[in-house]
Amino acid sequence: MLRADIDVGPIRAEELRDAVRIFLGAFSENVKAVYGDSPRPDAMLDVWTFFSQDEPGGFLAAREGCTLIGYALFTASLKRLQRDAVVRGQVLRWTLRALSGRYGIQWLQLGRVLWNKILFVGSSGRFRTQGDAQLLNIAVEPAARGRGAAKALVVAGMEYLAGRGVPEVRLEVRPDNAAAIRVYRGVGFVERGQTRDAHGDWLVMTADLAGRSGGKGGEDLRT
Ligand SMILES: CC(C)(COP(=O)(O)OP(=O)(O)OC[C@H]1O[C@@H](n2cnc3c(N)ncnc32)[C@H](O)[C@@H]1OP(=O)(O)O)[C@@H](O)C(=O)NCCC(=O)NCCS
Repeated sequence: MLRADIDVGPIRAEELRDAVRIFLGAFSENVKAVYGDSPRPDAMLDVWTFFSQDEPGGFLAAREGCTLIGYALFTASLKRLQRDAVVRGQVLRWTLRALSGRYGIQWLQLGRVLWNKILFVGSSGRFRTQGDAQLLNIAVEPAARGRGAAKALVVAGMEYLAGRGVPEVRLEVRPDNAAAIRVYRGVGFVERGQTRDAHGDWLVMTADLAGRSGGKGGEDLRT
């Protein structure tokens, strides 16, 4: 059950550093693959600052009092988000910063990760959804798990998308991630099939947003 003291809303600029810290802890294995044992938060901070400015309603924070306990990153259109990153010069800026060594990236490992991503995108394209809205990432601080924060974040994200006129949202999750799958099923996501990358299978899940009451506005952000 959602605790009354958990509040969900668009993330604030000053909360991004804590969101990155939660991300680095929750996905430490993946992070280690690219950044080694002492990851620097700079790259994530840069990318997430862009996301939060480009689509403020899609980047949600869960708070207990003034403390950030979790976040969820949704986009109404992945293609638009990627296009904005290119058109606004962000991709070039990130590349130059990475090349200058500021992000502490281990390049050989990054090459493997990118190759893996290419394999993944190649095999996942066969699942057709209406539009290209996605839940890109979600994590809750370990000490705050099991209290409904993730559920509240996903519901708020779905309402945000519905308010933008998005008909369907998609996500991918490892089939052994029982906690995440339980959250997604609980709010109406259904399994559509599996895809894979070099590290194993991914479960593709989608949720129909038609008929769901949206938040504010009716601006259509789809491509
Ligand atoms: C997945 C994650 C975000 C869930 O956060 P959470 O705040 O603990 O989830 P909630 O408290 O909202 O739980 C919602 C439901 O999932 C269930 N759940 C939570 N943790 C669970 C677990 N470890 N095993 C089984 N069910 C679990 C809850 O009982 C609840 O079910 P209910 O609604 O039927 O009561 C959190 O475990 C996490 O950050 N994991 C690491 C990052 C990650 O895997 N992200 C997802 C990538 S796709």
